[in-house]
Order: sequence, then C-alpha cells, then structure tokens
Amino acid sequence: MADVRVQFYGHVRQYHNLKTEIDNAITEVLESGSYVMGPKDKQFEGELAIHMGMKHAIGCNSGTDAIWLAFRALGIGPGDEVITTSNTFWATAEAIWIVGATAVLVDIEPRTRNIDVTKIQEKITPKTKAIVPVHLYGQCAEMDAIWEIAKKHNLLVVEDCAQAIGARGDTFKIGDQSDAVCMSFITAKNLGTFGDGGAVVTNRDDIVEPIRKLCNHGSNKRSVHSFGFNSRLDEIHAAILSVKLKHIDRWNDLRIARAADYAELLAGTKITLPYVKPGYRHVFHLYVIETPKRDDLQEYLKEQGIIALTNYPIAIHQQEGYPPFGLGDPHPTLPHTERNAAECLSLPLYPELTREEAKIVADAILEWERKSG
Ligand SMILES: Cc1ncc(COP(=O)(O)O)c(C=O)c1O
Repeated sequence: MADVRVQFYGHVRQYHNLKTEIDNAITEVLESGSYVMGPKDKQFEGELAIHMGMKHAIGCNSGTDAIWLAFRALGIGPGDEVITTSNTFWATAEAIWIVGATAVLVDIEPRTRNIDVTKIQEKITPKTKAIVPVHLYGQCAEMDAIWEIAKKHNLLVVEDCAQAIGARGDTFKIGDQSDAVCMSFITAKNLGTFGDGGAVVTNRDDIVEPIRKLCNHGSNKRSVHSFGFNSRLDEIHAAILSVKLKHIDRWNDLRIARAADYAELLAGTKITLPYVKPGYRHVFHLYVIETPKRDDLQEYLKEQGIIALTNYPIAIHQQEGYPPFGLGDPHPTLPHTERNAAECLSLPLYPELTREEAKIVADAILEWERKSG
C-alpha cells in the first residue's frame, strides 16, 4: 500500500493543537486525587446542558450506556417495542436489546439516510413504547414530524445524538420535545475524549436521580444500594471534554467548510454526495458518498494513500447476530437501507483536515471516475 497521504481520523492532530490545555487538565485531575464522581464531571455536565440548551446532563461511561440508561429510567423494558432505523451503528439497537425490548426497524429516507418519518406510523402497535431517531452522520432526523407522531400515539422519544452535537433542524433544536438525548464521546466523535464517555441530556427532572443512581450501583448515598450498574464518566475524560467543548462550534464550522469544499470539488461527478436538508445545520460527523462501485473506489483511494471507511456497510438487520433473543423481525423489508449499506463510503473529514487534503481526495476520486468510466 502507498504511504498514507490523507488519514481518516484527525484526533491526534487535534491533541497536538490543544496539547498544553489538555495536558494541564489531565495533570490537574491526577494531582487532585479525585478520579470518579468529582468536580470535573459536575462542571462538564453543567457546561454540556448549557451548550445543548437543556436542563440536565448526566455523564456516563459511553453512548451505548446513555441510551439504555435512559430507557431504564423511562421504564422501557421486556414486552415493549422501540422503533428505530437499521442504518446506524449497532449500539443503537443493542441498547434496546440490553433492556429486553424489541427493536422495530424502519427504512431510511434515501437522501438524508435518516429514518423515513412517513414509514413510522405503519410500524406502531399497542406494544410500541418509544421512537429512537438517530441523527446520522451529523444531520438531525425530522424531529418535528417525529414529535407529532409520538404525541398522537403517546410514545416516548429518545434521540441518539452520538454523531450530531451542535446540529440543528430548520425550526427545531435537538431535545426540544424529547424525553432524553443520548451523547457519545468516544474519540472520533465531533466532541470526543481519549477513550470512552457518554451522557444523557434531558429536560425531565424526574429521570435525573434515577439515572444517577443506576450509573452508580443503584446508590446515591454511601453504602446504600438498589439495583444498578457501574457507568460513570471518569474525571479525566470530563476534564478533557470541558476543554474540547469550548471549541466544538468552531470545529463544527470547519467540518461544514470542508464538506462545502468536497461538494464544490466533486460537483459534476456521478457519485452521490451528501444531501443537506434546507435550513438544517448538518455538522458532518461523517461525509458519506454513495456509488455502486464503492469497493472499487475505496481500493483505488487506498492505493493513492487515502483512507476512506464505510459507515455502515452491514445494516443492523444484516448483522449475523440480528435479532438477538428473537427481539426483532428477522426479515424486515428495508431496500433503501440495504442500498446505502452496499454503496456508502465515508471520506476523511475532520476539523483539522485542510482544503489541500480535501483536494487530494477529490482529485483522486475524479481520476478514478475518468479511469473507470
Ligand atoms: C449512532 C451511534 N449510536 C450509538 C453509539 C454508541 O456510542 P459508544 O461507542 O460511546 O457506546 C455510536 C458510536 O459509537 C453511534 O455512532
């Protein structure tokens, strides 16, 4: 393979750009002697809630935990059906199965590749308890339509916002009318720590203490326990996230600028470029193109020293482990999801990517197209 000219991830560059601030934050935690459930977690939770314009944030160990902790606090469990999409990372559905509920998968709207809101209604049964929209690749699902359906059928709404901190809809903000919004802070996310982290963000006062207890072995008082788990946001990660949160709006702007570069440089190609809904702020966690010759293009880029990856080449319902415990329709009909799985290719995109690097990628794609016809 050729030497790598354009990397897929930018987090090491990001670390170098913020090295002093991050090293100082970590050192401060190390010197403090307080590594879990300390002041840095509290501070970050407050900052995150303000950034999202919501009342509460509760740090936890991962985005996956955030989703199922929210489910448990909201009373979602065995016998319940939860509607979501199959074009997502496995963890969205995994969280549904962890609480013993059934994942009901809806096809995507082909342009945004988010859940098709016109197909939700037909999947609602007396057992349906919640809808879990995923703001995939950094663009919000159509929350106004989803909230309307949820209200009509008395359903809970838990947003999977792992990929979309800072995104917005045209007339709505993430979380406006939802029961919970779940965040992931794993390294490559728009806001990522150097390891795992997550949070539940909510306007509901009644689920805050239950989630805090669940995260801490069912305890909010020393030596007193009820049923729970261990899922806490470590102080080192909270301190790193506080440093990085200050930069998130600027980083998202840079992602949007590089996405605009790709759109300009690739105008006129036959490959399908990401679609941004009018009025939406798409924060481009991933820049996912589509082409029927995806594998061929990915290989060609690799030969040119450009790393492109796939999100998600095997949809949830196509995974060998689907549906665990029989908690899902084994053969759902999801043609748009399956086409996206076969054709999607994620180009390098991160705030530290330069326009020159985006041009190297775009030129290679144009060259491939000329050669492959
Ligand atoms: C859409 C989506 N949901 C959930 C998760 C799970 O987050 P985590 O890896 O922090 O558990 C991720 C990311 O990994 C994700 O991309």
